[in-house]
Amino acid sequence: MIVLGIETSCDDTAAALLDSEASILANVVSSQDLIHQRFGGIVPELASRRHMESITLIVKESLDLANLTLADLDLISVTRGPGLLGSLLVGFSYAKSLSYTLGIPFVGVDHMAGHLLSVFLEDQAPSFPYIALIVSGGTTSLFKVEGYCQFELLGATRDDAAGESFDKIARYLQLGYPGGPVVSNHADQGDGTALSLPRAWLEEGSLDFSFSGLKTSTMNHCHRLKQQGGMAENQIDDTCASFQQAVIDVLVEKTVKATQLHGINSVVLGGGVSANSSLRQQMGRRCAADGLSLYLPAVENCTDNGAMIAFAGLQQFLGGDRGSFGDDVYSRSPLGR
Ligand code: KG4
Repeated sequence: MIVLGIETSCDDTAAALLDSEASILANVVSSQDLIHQRFGGIVPELASRRHMESITLIVKESLDLANLTLADLDLISVTRGPGLLGSLLVGFSYAKSLSYTLGIPFVGVDHMAGHLLSVFLEDQAPSFPYIALIVSGGTTSLFKVEGYCQFELLGATRDDAAGESFDKIARYLQLGYPGGPVVSNHADQGDGTALSLPRAWLEEGSLDFSFSGLKTSTMNHCHRLKQQGGMAENQIDDTCASFQQAVIDVLVEKTVKATQLHGINSVVLGGGVSANSSLRQQMGRRCAADGLSLYLPAVENCTDNGAMIAFAGLQQFLGGDRGSFGDDVYSRSPLGR
């Protein structure tokens, strides 16, 4: 069985081909970073226009890479939401048309389910149940995962997502877009203990997150330095390192807390921020110290991609799910809050 996975929820046009053993035959991502860079963030209208220009080419490229043609496809799996409606509509409409033309089924997949299951694209995958921390530009959530289609939300951000706060700090410091990788590079040169920044633990036992206070404190610190004559390179590095450390402390602590509260000893990460090398290292050290098994997707499968959508859709299809031409996209996930 050959599954085509299509992902256009935000600013990456992605297509992948998977066989029924979940082996990736092709995984193509066309980034729009260069388009949105000069605006310091994603411009939705530009994102959907570029998806329209790219989608056919990206699917064709994935088929060429796998040495397959459209006639070899058995199933189309496509992101239905959450995300930017204009962007989602491009991939979803394209998938419906392809399904109709080829006479093969399609399934609409929640983007979050893709991240929650992306670890199954690796050789080492956990058994159920596991605790999943999904950290991206729009999400910071903890889930209990009990099956391929059984997700229970345990906690979520009450304001900014972790990736969003990385992006906002980068924009404030004019470091470029997307902010995560560039802040992380500066953080690698800096001292994570240089600044005393707040960590929002919230109420006792809460698995929710909040990063807006940290973001404001970091920006206030930068503002003070700028008023005093500007920020030297080492001050930018220390700020990025201290900010990143505060984010990581909370992500690690709350994830471990979730394993304790739910008596689960496997942890999975997913989403763009889980590509962060310090987060991966520190989560790894903490899990080892606490006797937990940590499963990490490859860095290229942490950010948005078609392979995780293909995998999640294949599981839904095997569970009996079928998309209908009357289905529509959605901007907020029913899995989230
Ligand atoms: O999952 P993703 O590709 O897209 C969605 O938001 O769904 O995640 C993108 C986010 C951006 O906010 C980006 O700045 C962040 O992930 N990111 C990182 C790193 N790489 C990407 N954040 C911290 N460290 C990184 N290395």
